[in-house]
Amino acid sequence: MVRDPSALHGARPRPAEDDPSETTGTERMLGEVGAPIGRAHRKQVHRDPWPDFAAFDPAPWPLPQRRRAAIQWAGRARNEHGSVQQFGQLTQVLASAQVELSLLGCLARMITDEVRHAELCARMALTLWPEGTAAEPQAFRWPRPRPPWADPPGAQQERDPEQRLAWAASAILTACCLGETLSRPMLDALVVVTTEPCAEAVCRQILRDEHLHATFGFEALGVLLPRLSAESRARLQTQLASDLAGFQRSVCGGIDIAEVAACSMVIERDEPNLGVLSDRQYAVIFYSCLETEIFPRLRELGLDPDAAWAARGRGKG
Ligand SMILES: [Fe+2]
Ligand SMILES: [Fe+2]
Repeated sequence: MVRDPSALHGARPRPAEDDPSETTGTERMLGEVGAPIGRAHRKQVHRDPWPDFAAFDPAPWPLPQRRRAAIQWAGRARNEHGSVQQFGQLTQVLASAQVELSLLGCLARMITDEVRHAELCARMALTLWPEGTAAEPQAFRWPRPRPPWADPPGAQQERDPEQRLAWAASAILTACCLGETLSRPMLDALVVVTTEPCAEAVCRQILRDEHLHATFGFEALGVLLPRLSAESRARLQTQLASDLAGFQRSVCGGIDIAEVAACSMVIERDEPNLGVLSDRQYAVIFYSCLETEIFPRLRELGLDPDAAWAARGRGKG
């Protein structure tokens, strides 16, 4: 199912790869398009007290540290924007499948949240390293987002609502049950390690929304699963194995579970930090979140995450 796990929440952002004809820049994505739209956007998207980006003082921060953090924040902005596209596509499919309006209402809120997150991360990137847009514009490239999964059912399946529900369940499993649930402890950790007040405020704002996003995944999947055929449910189990493999590849940077199982790593505020985690921290959070949060919830839904985990390297579930 996962074509490109690095485009998902919970995955680690990677440098932008782009086709120049489909690429714009971070500054342009933050551009104004007129006062009435700007007002509506701010009312909807700047819901909490907006972080005071202008208060950031670059003086105490070495350039390489600002650059490294800005590149990570720019990558997060692209991933957040990808979530806007993913949840938009999911909303469209579920609306066509005539599911209950409350599911659509929750998704509509989540789309707004992801626009918010994209803006927060993009502004953070530009705030940390404003001179980077001229010095290394490639760090701020913004390629067209690409959904991490196969296209939803098209015209041929138009008369088969089960196909639409099966596609939606598959997208929810990947993007919400896995991606959104993984991103929550990562943000928890970022809130702890980030010592710069503006970056910490950004992490806190995003974290507040991710609780709902993860919960939506398991709750919505619980609604859809009984409406699926046995074949569609079996396909979800198969997909789970490849999703787990994809996320592990993307998040853990080659660090295997055996390498971190024996070590107890405490996430704590230490060195000056602009909102970055180490490879080892990402890996520890990934394995621990699978064990303590994701696997138990998936078992409750009747999936078998342990079998999927065992099968992830074999390409079958
Ligand atoms: Fe987000
Ligand atoms: Fe999210």
